[in-house]
Amino acid sequence: MPLVTTKEMFEKAKEGKYAIGAFNVNNMEIIQGVINAATKEQSPVIMQMSPSAIKYAGIDYLMSMTKVAIDNSNVPVAIHLDHGTDFDICKQCIDAGFTSVMIDGSKHEYNENIELTKKVVEYAHSKGVVVEAELGKLAGIEDDINVSEGDASFTDPDQALEFIQKTGCDSLAVAIGTSHGAYKFKGTPNLRFDILEKIVEKTNGFPIVLHGASSVIPEYLQMCNEYGGNIPGAQGIPNDMLLKAGQMGVVKVNMDTDIRLAMTASIRKFLAEHLDTVDVRGYLGEARDLIEQMVINKIRNTLGSNNKI
Ligand code: G3H
Ligand code: 13P
Ligand code: ZN
Repeated sequence: MPLVTTKEMFEKAKEGKYAIGAFNVNNMEIIQGVINAATKEQSPVIMQMSPSAIKYAGIDYLMSMTKVAIDNSNVPVAIHLDHGTDFDICKQCIDAGFTSVMIDGSKHEYNENIELTKKVVEYAHSKGVVVEAELGKLAGIEDDINVSEGDASFTDPDQALEFIQKTGCDSLAVAIGTSHGAYKFKGTPNLRFDILEKIVEKTNGFPIVLHGASSVIPEYLQMCNEYGGNIPGAQGIPNDMLLKAGQMGVVKVNMDTDIRLAMTASIRKFLAEHLDTVDVRGYLGEARDLIEQMVINKIRNTLGSNNKI
């Protein structure tokens, strides 16, 4: 299956009222876990890489491994830049063959966000690449940007349509109460579905993206803590809320923390149970299998994108 943009994926998802999983990939095991799951479930999938993933592994390594994964699969895959911070990183990824980029201008003032997004859209569209933009600010940490809860702000539904029209972006990441990382809520989880409803209504069903959408799977959290970790009080988005978001017009659901958690839990357990091992293929192989299982569960029970190729 050729590398695709997210355009057709999103159109079908909107019609079918399901969502596409966008999984952050940082190394070979994660790429293999994600593609194996998508292939087994016959689900479209987005492999996304953050600027710090690119810094860690190298754009050429990540691109080459992802292309091999795509060549060995029959499902539609988009390669996406997650949280592009400036025009240059977006251009670098577009030139390297990504089919989709995110320009995250949310830290800028509204008009600056528009100008920056517009510049990326013009370049991307001239190369057949689609662009995700962000309006509103999520709390939490992404790359080196740390947005405190006080600085976070919900997306203004009245601004959303104007922003889309002025920038020409292809999808919009919104802030409705999710945040990045493992600590999303202090008390009872709460998302502003009223704001999401207004955004969908005012933008006439424009493709909406939900960041910070990991559920911080309790089973893996417990496994981390049981085998020497210390991640107390972490909490993610309950599955029923993610299902509801998918029904309401969210077509792309971003998950990174759940992959990190599955991988870390698996490695902690394996090493604790095999004190004499030095074969990295043992624990990395097991971690890859757990990521695959986790992504299969997401596709079936959260996204509903199985058998949708
Ligand atoms: O949204 C942020 C993602 O979890 C990426 O995290 O910048 O540490 O790779 P990262
Ligand atoms: P999580 O931290 O909830 O996995 O969110 C990831 C994300 O939004 C990547 O862009
Ligand atoms: Zn994000």
